[in-house]
Amino acid sequence: MVDLRIKRQDKDRIWFDTFQVEEEPGMSVLEALFHVQERLDGSLCFRYSCRGAVCGSCAMLINKVPRLACRTQVANVKDEAADEPKDGIAAVKQSGRIEGKNEILIEPLPNLKVIRDLVVDMDHFYDLMDSIRPWIDSAEKNYEKETLIEPSMQEKLERYTNCILCASCHGACPAAARDENYIGPAALAKAWRFYLDPRNRDSYKEEILDFLNSEQGVWGCDVVYKCVAVCPKKVTPTPAILEFREKME
Ligand code: FES
Repeated sequence: MVDLRIKRQDKDRIWFDTFQVEEEPGMSVLEALFHVQERLDGSLCFRYSCRGAVCGSCAMLINKVPRLACRTQVANVKDEAADEPKDGIAAVKQSGRIEGKNEILIEPLPNLKVIRDLVVDMDHFYDLMDSIRPWIDSAEKNYEKETLIEPSMQEKLERYTNCILCASCHGACPAAARDENYIGPAALAKAWRFYLDPRNRDSYKEEILDFLNSEQGVWGCDVVYKCVAVCPKKVTPTPAILEFREKME
């Protein structure tokens, strides 16, 4: 048996519940949550969709580390000490304690408003993404033919196009924790992707440098690489932020 210690929230009421779940081989944390919801407490709220690490909906804090519940195996985290997370991932400070072996602490993603239990309001995160205008605005406006780019450029862009908008990086970010207007690692990485893209109009480059040249932009980053450590798709926001800084100096 494994104990799931889950942070619950209903409006202003916050509490922890512990549920005992029988561990099955290969069980993910998401499957363990299904077990709780279907057999022990139907009121437990969490978000998911694809169950295959594609949609990004199931990001939550598991043993104080932002992770996808569908991709996290119960066997890998049930004996994890609170201050010694596996994979060299830095833990996020949060209120809960991991109390013993065979226990998994599950909390909502930090730095976003909780709607209920493990479900956070993603609107603010999406607004931050929108603020950098994450789309190609071609000067040519020729929609009749494909605009090809070099394979070497494609390789550079790919690292940033892999983002699944799970907000794990945002939940791990100390700058986002102290300033809700900080644009955040996901949007900054996305901005770098559109800055690099040769199909975008040239004036985007100047405009985005101007827009991000502030404490809410690239200068707010603490350069602690937590976003890089937790990204389930290996997107690397911190190097992108440092590249932006170089362009501005
Ligand atoms: S349910 Fe889609 S990423 Fe986990």
